[in-house]
Amino acid sequence: MAIRKIVTVEDPVLRKKSRPVVKFDEKLWMLLDDMKETLKKADGAGLAAVQVGILRRAVIVDVGDGKPLELINPEIVETSGEQEGQEGCLSLPGEWGVVCRPEFVKVRAQNRKGQWCLFKGEGLKARCFCHEIDHLDGIIFTDRAKHMLTDEELSRLNNNE
Ligand code: CO
Repeated sequence: MAIRKIVTVEDPVLRKKSRPVVKFDEKLWMLLDDMKETLKKADGAGLAAVQVGILRRAVIVDVGDGKPLELINPEIVETSGEQEGQEGCLSLPGEWGVVCRPEFVKVRAQNRKGQWCLFKGEGLKARCFCHEIDHLDGIIFTDRAKHMLTDEELSRLNNNE
């Protein structure tokens, strides 16, 4: 496994649409393993393949419950409720915005062997599913943010924790 470089928002690749994964081979498994390791090292909750420069529809979601999820060719099939909260991205270090997302999300995705599975998430996990799947279509959370947090707002939030 290897740590890959996370591209930042200046890189136009982040605005491109990722293509479906069609080969569930060792090359894909290596990418997924590297993404998991890269995400862990960066201490994030989710990473899309495009963030390591690979335009394929694959994401890792790890909300710290010890079970990182691999979602290949994910599609949101059901949502309900609404949550408003602070959101950031490993490709925009230090930037945070307030983003409204569904409270509950059901996702259909393939696993690393190509089998279709259903994943359910609420709260943070639902937020991560939406954020990462957006990446696959070139959408960045700042596109959806009601407003971006200023340095002052950020330090106030952090001091309250
Ligand atoms: Co992101």
